[in-house]
Amino acid sequence: QVVALVGVPTDIGAGHRGASMGPEALRVAQLGEKLRRRGMEVVDRGNLHGPMNPWQPPEDGYRHLPEVIAWNLAVHTAIHQELQAGRLPIMLGGDHCLAIGSISAVARHCHEQERKLRVLWLDAHADFNTSQVTPSGNIHGMPVACLCGNGPRELVEIGDRVPAVTPDVFRQIGIRSVDEGEKRLVRQAKMDIYDMRHIDEVGMKRTMEEALEGLDENTHLHVSFDVDFLDPSIAPGVGTTVRGGPTYREAQLCMEMIADTGRLGSLDIVELNPAYDKRNRTARLAVELVESLFGKSTLMREPD
Ligand code: ARG
Ligand code: MN
Ligand code: MN
Ligand code: MN
Repeated sequence: QVVALVGVPTDIGAGHRGASMGPEALRVAQLGEKLRRRGMEVVDRGNLHGPMNPWQPPEDGYRHLPEVIAWNLAVHTAIHQELQAGRLPIMLGGDHCLAIGSISAVARHCHEQERKLRVLWLDAHADFNTSQVTPSGNIHGMPVACLCGNGPRELVEIGDRVPAVTPDVFRQIGIRSVDEGEKRLVRQAKMDIYDMRHIDEVGMKRTMEEALEGLDENTHLHVSFDVDFLDPSIAPGVGTTVRGGPTYREAQLCMEMIADTGRLGSLDIVELNPAYDKRNRTARLAVELVESLFGKSTLMREPD
């Protein structure tokens, strides 16, 4: 399996500047080298290009909509191309609005290959806002809604069909910040949300067993890893920290259990913001977790 790194240096959908530096921070933390050391072939495609961040207030409930569209079209094309060539793409974000481009590409690939899709959304936030209910207008709070057909036409129509996916493909894990109007929407859509209370009550092991239930040989597993999933005490390098996230060990177990399925087909690493970080430690932690996601473990284990 060949892994392709695709850098997307923009913070166009975020409420803080700096996620545009995420791709380089992950490279400096040796993401590619660490995966190569695990025996994988890694190609780094460099960075995609797109419009500058004009840093304007929202218009009709959306900030920077034309620029968000341009970046996501570029992401869709690049990620779909890697999948078609049989490679496993890792999108180095960039803010989480870019998951509209990446996941629409994965969904299109799955339609073409007649494969099932499961998306694990590791995040503090549900990212299910619409222009009607958003408190900020920031489109990084809206990608899941857009992918499910609820958003501006140009974003909703990026893939090969509308909606690109249905809510049932998602399993959201680590959620602890959902806006008031957004709560109604996730409820209406019956989103499968394993919030922090669920993790507190049943533990990360049971949570992941539930989130991974029903995968088979024909399922493509996409992981959308918003770095603010992690507790801010271990991962300060994000714009939208929310306390009370998974610990280092809980995050490791989460990644290791995903690796054990052997179904990982594509990955986003988003919202890493080096401007808020200390000595690139959040990027280094993200890389460590991605090594586990690609099968690094302390011992050789028998499958149980
Ligand atoms: N719910 C808030 C909003 O919509 C925050 C979203 C944060 N999203 C993220 N991908 N970090 O503005
Ligand atoms: Mn595939
Ligand atoms: Mn988030
Ligand atoms: Mn997010």
